[in-house]
Amino acid sequence: MTPNELSIRRYRRHAAGYDASAQRTMPLRRRTIALLDLQPGQVVLDVGAGTGLSYALLRAGVGDAGRVLAFEQSPEMFELARERVAREDWRNVWQVCESAETVQLPQPADAVLFNYTHDILRSRAALHNLMRQVKPGARIAIAGIRYFPWWTGPLNLYAWLKNRPYNARPGELWRPWDRIEPYCQSLQRWTTQFGMGYIACGHKRD
Ligand SMILES: C[S@@+](CC[C@H](N)C(=O)[O-])C[C@H]1O[C@@H](n2cnc3c(N)ncnc32)[C@H](O)[C@@H]1O
Repeated sequence: MTPNELSIRRYRRHAAGYDASAQRTMPLRRRTIALLDLQPGQVVLDVGAGTGLSYALLRAGVGDAGRVLAFEQSPEMFELARERVAREDWRNVWQVCESAETVQLPQPADAVLFNYTHDILRSRAALHNLMRQVKPGARIAIAGIRYFPWWTGPLNLYAWLKNRPYNARPGELWRPWDRIEPYCQSLQRWTTQFGMGYIACGHKRD
């Protein structure tokens, strides 16, 4: 089974309860989106958008003249995102059920959000496909899970176990940002969740 197939299988189970379980990380989501410093009229890309929980915040940043582009490969997660957009009648959200490795955006993005998209950050093919469709200088913001510092020892078993039900590549948590880093001019980082999380922000290289 490929990592994409495994991830799709996992999110089939998570979709129904996803929004409820994501409520406690809403402050982190807000903080990460604020780092994008969105401006009215901009185009922002929501990578692996899940059920579309970030759409309202992203729309608030780009305004009616801007656009939110989003993709998500799990049909069950995407269906919830599709229902959200239809329910809210959001006309400036473009979204597609597609993988990060193959998605084709309708236009280049000014800003990119990776909110808890570990598998995508670990896929070189996904990053290659996405970053070639993003404007030079685009702002990039990332939030995700990482290992605690090495000296905490067994605590990292907890981090791995926490990541496993959601991700097809549950390891590689020492430096989960290191494959996107070469695409960025600079990547500032902050530790969150007592050491088990991180937020990063930078600009795409010209
Ligand atoms: C933890 S959820 C985060 C969803 C959303 N970004 C959020 O903040 O609520 C990770 C999402 O990435 C999606 N995903 C994982 N690998 C993917 C890939 N290669 N292409 C597209 N979506 C992917 C999963 O289906 C899942 O919906």
